[in-house]
Amino acid sequence: MVSPFDVLDLDEDADDADVERAYRDRVKEAHPDTGGSVEEFQLVRRAYRELADRNLDGAETNGTGTDPADIDLTEGEGTGSIRVEFLDYEVIADRGWDLADDDLFAKAADADLAPADHGRLLVEPDESLLEAAENRGFSWPFSCRGGACANCAVYLVEGELSQPANHILSEEHAERGFRLSCNGYPLSDELKVVFNVKHLPELDELRLPPGPFRRATTE
Ligand code: FES
Repeated sequence: MVSPFDVLDLDEDADDADVERAYRDRVKEAHPDTGGSVEEFQLVRRAYRELADRNLDGAETNGTGTDPADIDLTEGEGTGSIRVEFLDYEVIADRGWDLADDDLFAKAADADLAPADHGRLLVEPDESLLEAAENRGFSWPFSCRGGACANCAVYLVEGELSQPANHILSEEHAERGFRLSCNGYPLSDELKVVFNVKHLPELDELRLPPGPFRRATTE
């Protein structure tokens, strides 16, 4: 397996400042928008995460096993984790809000919603958005887990999520901000997403029966 030092082009005696500097340089080169690829981007983030974890000296890692309601968005800074604030589309529909509302998340914050409806989670470098939600104890919708349906679709309010080349969403869907969470990996440091948008009329016909396939991996 390739060493994280090789990925970041570092000597093995590199200190924290060297790691930080190398990560900033490499992650820019590896970003899909600047000529890299999702795979390279994830590799760089994983390498950084590995070296950062090595220096945590036994401190608990982020996310898994933490009550979602207790997650602090400042947690995970400097460890390659991506901070995600999420909102369930059913709340938007029930309350007569609109996906295009500028203050959608501010209204959600004021509404005292259940932790499963509105909250925060951290995505580790090797997790898709759906995997991260599941690994933190949330039940987000899915079906094929392979880019062939809209069951796992999310709406991006802020940030960027990768989109695989062969997927079911049209260019227009993508331009409007829809992405697939089962194989979407964060490409920005923070995300705000609305999940459970599969019931929107424009996505409804792209749905499959819920969850016929189980996850190949377990926690
Ligand atoms: S679950 Fe079908 S594309 Fe994600």
